[in-house]
Amino acid sequence: MIMEILRPLLFGLLGCLAAVQILVLAQDQTGFISLDCGLPENSSYEELTTGINYISDAAYISTGESQDLTSKYKNIYERQFWNLRYFSTGTRNCYNVSINRGTKYLIRASFLYGNYDGFNRLPKFNLYVGQSLWGSVEFTEVDLYLWKDIIHIPLTDNIYICLININQGTPFISALEFRPLPNTTYTTTGGSLSLYSRANFGTDQTYRFGYDVFDRIWLPFTYKKWTNVSTSNTVDPTNHAIYEVPSIVMSTAATPTNSSSPLEFKWNPDEVTSQYYAYMSFAEIVKLQANQTRVFNVNLNGQHLFGPLSPIYLSTKTFYSETALYDANGQYEISLVSTENSTLPPLINAFEVYKVINISDLRTDTADVNVIMSIKLTYGVNKDWQADPCLPKAYPWSGLICNNDTAPRIISLDLSSSDLTGEISPYIFNLSMLQTLDLSNNSLSGKVPDFLANMPSLKVIKLDKNNLTGPLPPELLKRVNNNSLTLSVEDNPNLDGACASDSCAEKKKKSFIVPVVASVGGLLVVLTVAAIIFWIVKLRNKSQDHSTVPVPRVKDTKSNNDSLEVRRRQFTYSEIVRMTENFARPVGEGGSGRVYLGHIENVQVAVKMLSPLSAHSYQQFQTEVKLLMRVYHGNLTSLVGYLNEKDHFGLIYEYMTKGNLAQVLSESPVLLTWEDRLRIAIDAAQGEKTQQNYRVYSVLSTNTLLLTFLLHHKNEILSQILKNTGLEYLHHGCKPPIVHRDVKTTNILLTDNFQAKLADFGLSKSFPNDGSKTHMSTTVAGTPGYFDPEYYTSNRLTEKSDVYSFGVVLLEIITCRPVISRAQKNVHIIQWATTMIAQGDIRNVIDPRLKGEFDSNSAWKSVEIAMACVSSNSSSRPTMNQVVTELKNCLAMEMSRKTENPSLNSRDSIETFSISINLPTYSPEAR
Ligand SMILES: *[C@@H]1O[C@H](CO)[C@@H](O)[C@H](O)[C@H]1NC(C)=O
Ligand SMILES: *[C@@H]1O[C@H](CO)[C@@H](O)[C@H](O)[C@H]1NC(C)=O
Ligand SMILES: *[C@@H]1O[C@H](CO)[C@@H](O)[C@H](O)[C@H]1NC(C)=O
Ligand SMILES: *[C@@H]1O[C@H](CO)[C@@H](O)[C@H](O)[C@H]1NC(C)=O
Repeated sequence: MIMEILRPLLFGLLGCLAAVQILVLAQDQTGFISLDCGLPENSSYEELTTGINYISDAAYISTGESQDLTSKYKNIYERQFWNLRYFSTGTRNCYNVSINRGTKYLIRASFLYGNYDGFNRLPKFNLYVGQSLWGSVEFTEVDLYLWKDIIHIPLTDNIYICLININQGTPFISALEFRPLPNTTYTTTGGSLSLYSRANFGTDQTYRFGYDVFDRIWLPFTYKKWTNVSTSNTVDPTNHAIYEVPSIVMSTAATPTNSSSPLEFKWNPDEVTSQYYAYMSFAEIVKLQANQTRVFNVNLNGQHLFGPLSPIYLSTKTFYSETALYDANGQYEISLVSTENSTLPPLINAFEVYKVINISDLRTDTADVNVIMSIKLTYGVNKDWQADPCLPKAYPWSGLICNNDTAPRIISLDLSSSDLTGEISPYIFNLSMLQTLDLSNNSLSGKVPDFLANMPSLKVIKLDKNNLTGPLPPELLKRVNNNSLTLSVEDNPNLDGACASDSCAEKKKKSFIVPVVASVGGLLVVLTVAAIIFWIVKLRNKSQDHSTVPVPRVKDTKSNNDSLEVRRRQFTYSEIVRMTENFARPVGEGGSGRVYLGHIENVQVAVKMLSPLSAHSYQQFQTEVKLLMRVYHGNLTSLVGYLNEKDHFGLIYEYMTKGNLAQVLSESPVLLTWEDRLRIAIDAAQGEKTQQNYRVYSVLSTNTLLLTFLLHHKNEILSQILKNTGLEYLHHGCKPPIVHRDVKTTNILLTDNFQAKLADFGLSKSFPNDGSKTHMSTTVAGTPGYFDPEYYTSNRLTEKSDVYSFGVVLLEIITCRPVISRAQKNVHIIQWATTMIAQGDIRNVIDPRLKGEFDSNSAWKSVEIAMACVSSNSSSRPTMNQVVTELKNCLAMEMSRKTENPSLNSRDSIETFSISINLPTYSPEAR
């Protein structure tokens, strides 16, 4: 049996350092950094057994707590083990140590648990150097210390050593030490070195600094089949020896007891792919007779490595491999074999083996580091914000998300609930890759800065629950309205246009109507409005000389180029009269009020004058005003302002020129191709928005999610994948979340370029503010036809109810039929589809206006998916993931048909949108 080199580096033997080493010489500690972790700040001492000068680690780390071990350890171990620093909070806790760039260091981290916490439970955690995993710290005994050495040349001026909590106990550390080494020692062809084993043969003593100028720790190594030999003479290094193995280590050695057998030992690799460097030091320590010789070869796995060599009396020579040792079978058996003319068996004094590890010099982008450090200082952030912000990549600073660049950049900053005070820091502007900024729930004051609008990467800003003041920057609102940015500013009581929960509309008890464009009266109104608006837009485009309507001034009088969005505010009746030129252009009439065309500067608006006779309540008016005044999102209809004056109540909206979704799907001349429909469906299911399909298709994402939410069910699949829709914003961007409660395709309006916006918030509800509820018990409001029948009978909601709803939407997309057809005895779209499918001709199912312009396999497949979704038994319905996958297959089929026949590839239908609706009897003057 071959003696296995265990990993003694991990097991400091109890008592082995007890022998007080009397130092013959005071050794040079130049360049040493010796941190006693947990030592009180600013204290230091000279360790008695080694003479090493330790200092407190407090200046190198800002987290963690100190703990002393019981006095029992003071009799056994060196002083740096008597206390430790532990990290009960935070996943990452990092030391930041300044070192000399380009110097080769032996870096050592040491750990002695010693039941410091009284739990008698050995923790396990990970140790990182910057981005790179140094190793896992794993104990076997409460009373044994372990340490880890690496030899590494940092190419930076400081080095970050991080302890990472992996949920297997609290990380802690006893000592952290740095020892400079000559750059000519321990060279590799690539990579750094991690100590696997360092063995001193023929002794039972441990030696380190005081004896070893580099402070290598030499552990004793003996074996029953070996004989120890030693000398009391000094063993000098040979000329030009650079490894400086101490004399005391070299003065003992092992030889095989059976002098005819080789001396053998081996190690087992951590991983088969690991590579190693081995260092063997030999010195003859037996005075040989004239007729004696000691000559041997060193073999690895039977292959010659060094030799023949004949150690010189009292003179050390270190042999090492110039390139890494690697065995594909993971076998590393060293044998020292005497040559034939040797009279003595082989001998070895000292042995080291290191594993090659790669320690990356990766650092977060310097500019971003400087900025985030400034932000940290500005706000006094007191989190785990130490060392490199983005590294290790798996454990960045809490609140940060970084990208994967070669010098990682910060793309998300979450400083919510961090007790921030003062203004929004201008440093943030310099985080040029930032996409998400969350500063909510702090005490920030001052204005919302203009620079936020000029950060092109920024997509989401959350400023809720602060004390921000003034108007929102117009440029920022512009970006919100063109959908390039989501902004939430709820609960900033002094911010213009962002109302706290109930400070917006005056509290008046009066009953009247909210005839939101697309709600009551429904489709007809919408169609009419859309037609008129379209027509007017055309006229306007022809005649460039549109006159300017007198502009109502903003209360705090900003400059003229304030955009329309800034004036989300209360208007007076006389302003409304001017805006609409005394209500000259009614563009629609619902059951409850009239809608007029108006202008603010050159921007068209829809002015809804609310009829006091309507059944809608004043509360609903309030609800809508409050909601729209405090949320900004590209997928919500912009409320420009409102009128709340004596007997006059009104809402002023942006124009929605293309009508609503129901229209586009079924009744308008706009014909969505089969490919369009599949993309819509996939997008609705999955939320993947490419530039090109975003606008039209976010419509259905909104709709589906709305349905989902109406069912009061937290559908994780959907809410995760349907990002950035108006509804998602209502639910997750607003706190408390808002439920729309009146989903209809007619409540989803389309802008000129088919951007979808949610409208009619008259029924919307906020959740109770205590955050305790994830659903509400309330009468389900909304449009029948989408509800899972199983939910009706069982009253139990599952995610399969959402799948059902999605199936209904999918059927609408495929067939362009109403969910419930009044013309046909209220037949539901599912019944209808079932009947048509039974006839076996796909053309009877698909929207006939497509005139067969689709791949029939693709069409059949999509119908199958829809029908599976609406199975009456929820367990037969697919999951949303399956739906997405299947729909993608459908799209692929359709795409390949189009590729084969490129002439089919036309999307002109939307551009050549023509309206063939009878215009109202009045005829607007061209201006
Ligand atoms: C070497 O010489 C000594 C006497 O000096 C003798 O006792 C010994 O047997 C010799 N050994 C061998 C192997 O010849
Ligand atoms: C011993 O034998 C080896 C070859 O096996 C030879 O190279 C070496 O010179 C010899 N040494 C002595 C001291 O005779
Ligand atoms: C807001 O922050 C405070 C501490 O600053 C915290 O206690 C509270 O839970 C936070 N509220 C929310 C809704 O996050
Ligand atoms: C908010 O800011 C205003 C000044 O703009 C100040 O008077 C008020 O005390 C602040 N409120 C809080 C809660 O800090």
